[in-house]
Amino acid sequence: MNKGIAIYPGSFDPTTNGHLDLIQRGSKIFEELVVAVLRNSEKTPMFSLGERLEMLKELTADLSNVRIDTFDGLMVEYAKSIEATCVLRGIRAVSDYEYELQMALMNRKIEPTLETVFMMPADKYSYVSSRLVREVAQLGGPVRGLVPEAVEQKLREKLDPAYKLQRRNVIEVPRRRKKKA
Ligand code: PNS
Repeated sequence: MNKGIAIYPGSFDPTTNGHLDLIQRGSKIFEELVVAVLRNSEKTPMFSLGERLEMLKELTADLSNVRIDTFDGLMVEYAKSIEATCVLRGIRAVSDYEYELQMALMNRKIEPTLETVFMMPADKYSYVSSRLVREVAQLGGPVRGLVPEAVEQKLREKLDPAYKLQRRNVIEVPRRRKKKA
């Protein structure tokens, strides 16, 4: 196990099984892993910062060396402020490599002491991204197995507010009458 703090930064909009897989792997090799959610991204998120934090906290509750936090501004500045020595990022396929390499080298240029460590999620999640999950869910497609169950639930509630009320028994769903034989 590596001594010290590592950070796993990202948007997590929403957390996928690929993210969770990487958090679990990271928690095994780093003494402390801080999952850092970017506060003000240029993109308009589907889930609010509060919702993303709540989901991550719930999903990582069983990992005692994982902490959830938020950050703004330069990631390297935040890493420095919490005395992190490593940045963890996931690489799913070759297509991720170029962007990740660029980002890692830029971060190293700004802060040479901060190392980026790449890990691969399980191959069954190699095509899973938050963007595709959002798109498929918005278009009514299935996302089971791509995101944790709690996230699947939140997606359903977000995209169909009536679903939430049904679950809370606030509104009654009309039952189909049985046909007379
Ligand atoms: O999950 P994402 O959206 O791929 O995460 C990207 C993230 C949040 C890690 C990256 O955009 C970032 O670090 N943003 C903070 C601003 C910053 O430091 N920019 C310089 C990156 S070289």
